Amino acid sequence: MGQTHNIEICLGSSCFSRGNREVVQVIRDYLRKNHLDDKVVLRGARCMNRCSEGPFIIINGRTFASTGVQDIEKILEKELV
Ligand code: FES
Repeated sequence: MGQTHNIEICLGSSCFSRGNREVVQVIRDYLRKNHLDDKVVLRGARCMNRCSEGPFIIINGRTFASTGVQDIEKILEKELV
């Protein structure tokens, strides 16, 4: 059944405090709401040493910088189809 997607979210202190704390929650809710829990592997990542461009999230190897709760759902819709 479909392919598995990988989401990595930077949980280094900078990204975490600049939005990823909320974003990780939004992603969890989104996956549950859309019954995607078993199709998506969500993992926390360590600081990527690019904090000033963060907060970072990586979906299937593609990096999204400066993401926030306001755009995460759109990105998920687009990337997880
Ligand atoms: S904390 Fe995310 S890049 Fe440094």
